[in-house]
Amino acid sequence: MLERFKGLFSPTKEHVDEYGIQPDTVPYHVAIIMDGNGRWAKKRGLPRIAGHRAGMKTVKEVTIAADDIGVKVLTLYAFSTENWKRPLQEVDFLMRLPEEFLALELDELMEKNVQIRVIGDSSGLPAHTRKTVFDAVEKTKQNTGLILNIALNYGGRAEIIDAVRTIVQEVIDGKLSVEDVSAHTIEQHLLTSGLPDPDLLIRTSGEIRLSNFLLWQSAYTELWFTDVLWPDFRRHHFFTAIRDYQKRGRRFGGLN
Ligand code: IPE
Ligand code: IPE
Ligand code: MG
Repeated sequence: MLERFKGLFSPTKEHVDEYGIQPDTVPYHVAIIMDGNGRWAKKRGLPRIAGHRAGMKTVKEVTIAADDIGVKVLTLYAFSTENWKRPLQEVDFLMRLPEEFLALELDELMEKNVQIRVIGDSSGLPAHTRKTVFDAVEKTKQNTGLILNIALNYGGRAEIIDAVRTIVQEVIDGKLSVEDVSAHTIEQHLLTSGLPDPDLLIRTSGEIRLSNFLLWQSAYTELWFTDVLWPDFRRHHFFTAIRDYQKRGRRFGGLN
């Protein structure tokens, strides 16, 4: 864990015992690939966007659940750099969802002391989406509770390419020597700079892949998959993932 996070983590939240979760090993950073909205809608004969709207309720439920047990960082994959391949109407809807979500939930998130952050290429977002998320980031930046980190127009490869470009430029400019390029240098240039790597990564909907999410950061992350579609994912599913995580032996290449 990074130096600045030491001591910040106090697993004293009151709900921890109630769900059979061990207070001392609550994951610090949980990342979620929120998948299956389209299939959820299709099963009901609804347009795909109905699934995305339903998935928004799960975002709220899981954010509160994570906060209740003392998770410190929750990173949610909301839109990938590859999701632009979808039909325009669906992309438009997804780009309006942050506005819809924040109009409904920002007051409560403020009350809960949640700090909103965004990772991804914000320059590629429509101006209205960019403004909404930046306003929320600005409004919540003094909050000291859960960090709700939204991955919007995020791609793990693009993130690494950008980091490499900046580092190469620093070498060319003589600010950095080649020998000094280390894992730490790369980390400092990623969009998650300053945040510890995810301890647990959850993916819903039965797909067993990373889909370009947090490629560097998930090197030693515990992975947890479920067939449940994101709009059906509930607080108790989240707690099941946490309990499973707590049974794992994390070795990081060493021995127990
Ligand atoms: C996840 O649900 C949300 C986004 C990728 C934006 P999907 O829209 O991918 O749902 P499926 O995978 O088609 O069911
Ligand atoms: C990953 O889901 C992206 C998000 C959840 C935002 P996709 O549905 O885009 O991933 P693939 O296409 O199934 O790999
Ligand atoms: Mg999908």
